[in-house]
Amino acid sequence: MGSPVVLGIESSCDETGAGVVRGGRLLGHALASSMDEHARYGGVVPEIAARAHVQALRPVVREALDDAGLGFADVGAVAVTTGPGLAGALQVGLAGGKGLAYALGVPLYGVHHLAGHVAADTLAHGPLPDPCVVLIVSGGHTSLLLVRDLVRSPIAHLGDTLDDAAGECFDKVARVFGLPHPGGPAVDRAARTGNPRAVAFPRPLAGSPDHPYDFSFSGLKTAAARWAEGHAGRALPTADGAASLQEAVADVLTRKAVAACAEHGVGTLVVVGGVAANSRVRSLAEERCRAAGITLRVPPLRLCTDNGAMIAAVGDLLVRSGAEPAPLDLSVDPSAPL
Ligand code: KG4
Ligand code: ZN
Repeated sequence: MGSPVVLGIESSCDETGAGVVRGGRLLGHALASSMDEHARYGGVVPEIAARAHVQALRPVVREALDDAGLGFADVGAVAVTTGPGLAGALQVGLAGGKGLAYALGVPLYGVHHLAGHVAADTLAHGPLPDPCVVLIVSGGHTSLLLVRDLVRSPIAHLGDTLDDAAGECFDKVARVFGLPHPGGPAVDRAARTGNPRAVAFPRPLAGSPDHPYDFSFSGLKTAAARWAEGHAGRALPTADGAASLQEAVADVLTRKAVAACAEHGVGTLVVVGGVAANSRVRSLAEERCRAAGITLRVPPLRLCTDNGAMIAAVGDLLVRSGAEPAPLDLSVDPSAPL
């Protein structure tokens, strides 16, 4: 018999994603994005995102199944993101997932978006070791977690951001630097030709004994804005600013993540979420993990940013762990805690 084919649906922000996973293996996936529609507003507009999900959901699900060489009749379970995220956007995916599960007569599973980011890595590198330290860095979250069994045991928060998320810092500073939305990838691109030591941006909470594993990015964001303002009337050396900002973010993230592994005697660090796509976060994590004798796992780029495959991956873990399916009156939770 084996485990069933799980169809995963993601719609928490501006990406409509569907993925097909069975027994820990990614069989197919598809993604549509309303990113370009938000660009002129400088950030994600919730109503535009929700409307775009309505249009994209059916074709994206179809495309993911086609990619897997499967049809609706092959689907054995449906997993859908219930939060955290934009309420209207989440509702579109959940309604679609419920309708599909009901029509196909298969169980429905609600999935936490951040658990999805963590599970994304299993599709590339197999089951997570128990325990592992997970650095989750996205547009809305920045946390250091101690993970044992992702779907069975409680997740311990070693630290969190006290203010902005790392991705939010990239996005907001990019706007000040005149770079396009989304800011993270734009900063990454601009940084390629810049000097990471050009500007001495602060490393907030880097050596804080009270907050060894917490983060703070709002001061860094302000420092970058001040630096840009200081060039009023002159050309902004954007590449140097971008490289220096990226270096500061990558430095605090990886320093704390590696220290958390060392203190907890954990041999594996997993870095996930949209900011795990950042080239300097990846290379510095690699460098520091190698020096500390820690195994580093980072998903390939397309599995770092939001996608449906990661939601299917959690659904697959839930099914295989014998978890109870969700009732059909399952609702979204836009600020769901992990
Ligand atoms: O995980 P994700 O796709 O969505 C959320 O759950 O938030 O993360 C999106 C965030 C955005 O802030 C985006 O700017 C950032 O990830 N991001 C990056 C890069 N690619 C995406 N930040 C820095 N460098 C990148 N290459
Ligand atoms: Zn995300």
